[in-house]
Amino acid sequence: MSPSTSQLTPSLPLPAGGAVVDRMRRPLHDLRISVTDRCNFRCTYCMPAEIYGERYHFLPKSAVLSYEEIARLARIFVKLGVKKIRLTGGEPLVRSNVEELVALLAKIEGVEDLAMTTNGYLLAEKAQALKGAGLRRITVSLDTLDDEIFGKMNGRGYGVKRVLEGIAAADAAGLRPIKIDAVVQRGVNDQTVVDLARHFKGTGHIVRFIEFMDVGNINGWKPEFVVPSSEVIARINAVWPVEPVEANYLGEVAERWRYKDGSGELGVISSVTQPFCATCTRARLSPQGELFTCLFGTKGKDLREPLRSGAADADIEKMVSGVWKSREDRYSEIRASLDRPAGKKIEMYQIGG
Ligand code: GTP
Ligand code: 5AD
Ligand code: SF4
Ligand code: SF4
Repeated sequence: MSPSTSQLTPSLPLPAGGAVVDRMRRPLHDLRISVTDRCNFRCTYCMPAEIYGERYHFLPKSAVLSYEEIARLARIFVKLGVKKIRLTGGEPLVRSNVEELVALLAKIEGVEDLAMTTNGYLLAEKAQALKGAGLRRITVSLDTLDDEIFGKMNGRGYGVKRVLEGIAAADAAGLRPIKIDAVVQRGVNDQTVVDLARHFKGTGHIVRFIEFMDVGNINGWKPEFVVPSSEVIARINAVWPVEPVEANYLGEVAERWRYKDGSGELGVISSVTQPFCATCTRARLSPQGELFTCLFGTKGKDLREPLRSGAADADIEKMVSGVWKSREDRYSEIRASLDRPAGKKIEMYQIGG
């Protein structure tokens, strides 16, 4: 994909009153909040165990935004057009009583969708509380059903059983539709994609295969490790014929497919082979309160300092809208033409995918 093939999307509707748009006319619509940089996994493509060992210093508690601080910022973002909030990490369920944050966010008028992305390891014990607090739905990362490969990929040797129990508990709690996200890496788990699809076919859960991305600086990304979504679809189609389905909404990250036999839906997220920057409406908040306008950002805008030094909501709103108005990020579209990034990129565990 060369930069010249990227398009500003003329059909991106201008938002109703209050919402800001960036330099490519993309409105601010989603807020992804990373609630912690900590995680109970050590996925090789995110937090390799050899770097993030037992002595690694994650952020101290005082540096991390409190739930009240996050909710205050979320209210400001909603004023500027945000309708969808997703909680991420690190692993959001390792932050204690995260359902208290869910409850604060669920109360904000104007939030139409409230979701969480988790590795599922602690989900069985948390699903009910999350639902009770007002979480709508959940996305669980699960790269393979093969215990040995999964154990290697999560860097802890954990098997898939607890994650599957977490998914069952989320289903029982009504955190639907449940999405299962799998990062596909050639030579690591690509031979298991059909098994993963088979397991969830007919359950109502939607498996989505994600192209391995060059997020951060340490995951050893190389283009040859990427399995293009077209190949994933071809492999599945060879077993069960599939057909494309229209997007739920303009700018949906996943491309939707369904089994022709009526047994459900799956998806692919093709940020390497078919970037979707032209419709990217996502802002990201790091655990320490920095605003990023791209997953591949190098520097965020610090919102914690004004939050903690007595700034009024209106001042913070002005800062956020200023950042969004000057936004021109489209990293995935121009990746191929970049020699190297302009600085050190934020890591996935600091920004939550
Ligand atoms: P739904 O609301 O269920 O459609 O999900 P979502 O679009 O919010 O996607 P989700 O958070 O489940 O993202 C799935 C994966 O897609 C993430 O873990 C990332 O790997 C990738 N992804 C999401 N947003 C972006 C983005 O803005 N840019 C890039 N390059 N990848 C993204
Ligand atoms: N490429 C693609 N997806 C990634 N994720 C983490 N690192 C990468 C990467 N390098 C996904 C995880 C999880 C979400 C938080 O981000 O699978 O679903
Ligand atoms: Fe943890 Fe998710 Fe990163 Fe894996 S990808 S180490 S589960 S934050
Ligand atoms: Fe949005 Fe950046 Fe991802 Fe493009 S690369 S879709 S601008 S987050």
